[in-house]
Amino acid sequence: MKLLIDDANVEEIQRLVEYYPIDGVTTNPSILGKQKRNPKEVLLEIREIIGSDALLFVQALPTDAEGMVEDAKAIVKLLGENTIVKVPSIPEGFKAIRILKEEGITTCGTVVFTPMQAYLAAKAGASYVAPYVNRIDNMGYDGIRVTKEIQDILVNHHMDCMVLAASFKNSQQVLELCEYGIGSATAAPSVIDAFVKNPAIDRAVEDFIHDFESLGEKKTMSEYLG
Ligand code: E4P
Repeated sequence: MKLLIDDANVEEIQRLVEYYPIDGVTTNPSILGKQKRNPKEVLLEIREIIGSDALLFVQALPTDAEGMVEDAKAIVKLLGENTIVKVPSIPEGFKAIRILKEEGITTCGTVVFTPMQAYLAAKAGASYVAPYVNRIDNMGYDGIRVTKEIQDILVNHHMDCMVLAASFKNSQQVLELCEYGIGSATAAPSVIDAFVKNPAIDRAVEDFIHDFESLGEKKTMSEYLG
């Protein structure tokens, strides 16, 4: 499963890519708005941090197909290869996805709340579809279940499109979808940190150090072996 950071804070992205095997970064207009900085500068800095091979998702703002296509071209021109344009999964979006597919621009059908939206975005030519797990839960439905249904549709219909599960509130939700075999997930830094935030893990590491130090003054293998 590809793992992405759902954030645009460059310090946080820098920290996370140093520690975790991250495949890229996803942004949306709200995430960019929170930075209170010029989005062009922020996106260029993110591209610089993650490198040209990593995936970078950026959303088109207009709600009409023509405007979406224009935004998409500007996004890809600025950020280069491995940049994926997020397009809302609405009728104008499906139209834009079809046009962009013909132009060789990779898209992600975003704002997905139902399996049928995902199916239509995939059929129009999107390479990713992004169900919003937590937001679906908040509507009184089961976001994990909807995401699994989308995964089943893509697999059963042999569609050249992968789930990019998004909008998580905890690491367990990501794990459940990882076990199910979805292709990619994007999560906020706090959720990614929570993957390994466990007192039992910290305690085990501390115990190993403590037990080893009972041997004497030296603290590391290299001090003994070097
Ligand atoms: C990703 O595609 C979405 O923009 C994002 O994950 C939404 O997350 P939120 O529901 O936490 O805002």
